[in-house]
Amino acid sequence: MFHLPDYYTINDKTFKVMISPEEIKKSVTETAQRINKDFKGKKPLFIITLKGAMFFAVDLLREIELDCEIETISAKSYGTEMTSSGEVKISGFKTDITGKDILIIEDIVDSGLTLSKLFKELSACNPASISAAAFLSKPAMRKTDIHVEYTAMEIAPEFVVGYGLDYAEKGRQLPGIYVLDETK
Ligand code: IMP
Ligand code: MG
Repeated sequence: MFHLPDYYTINDKTFKVMISPEEIKKSVTETAQRINKDFKGKKPLFIITLKGAMFFAVDLLREIELDCEIETISAKSYGTEMTSSGEVKISGFKTDITGKDILIIEDIVDSGLTLSKLFKELSACNPASISAAAFLSKPAMRKTDIHVEYTAMEIAPEFVVGYGLDYAEKGRQLPGIYVLDETK
């Protein structure tokens, strides 16, 4: 069994445990239940944004009781720094989504630029509907007025790692969420 440390160091930064695996599981289950209810009778296509949303998507999808399909897309907006580059690159998607009910699975919505770009590009392919589920959201950081229908947890505008989220490509494997500790 993985021992969850109180602190985790990546390069020169120290992160402190903030959300436990148990709390994560509870919020993911609640989100899956809402999706199961709202999409009842529909056949949604879930689109997982790589790499960050992998962990959330796997846990969420294991609790989905719908006749669904799963795809992945690569959306990159962060380099190795902690602030958004503002530039969003989307790649690796060729599926025909015409007439489908799309649910994008995101790790975290910060400025909202990534999701806004995904909405725009995918909407141009004539899906029946398009919505999003994010594991985390930092509402205070929003620079666009996008609507995130399903949010597992809302957090303050702080930098976090774990459960798929990285700092300079590290820390994704942590089963809890860790926040940057600026006092260290
Ligand atoms: P946005 O385009 O500003 O909404 O940024 C969304 C993307 O930035 C997410 O999909 C993450 O990859 C990354 N991101 C935003 N905040 C954090 C964070 O606190 N830790 C790690 N990655 C983050
Ligand atoms: Mg991401």
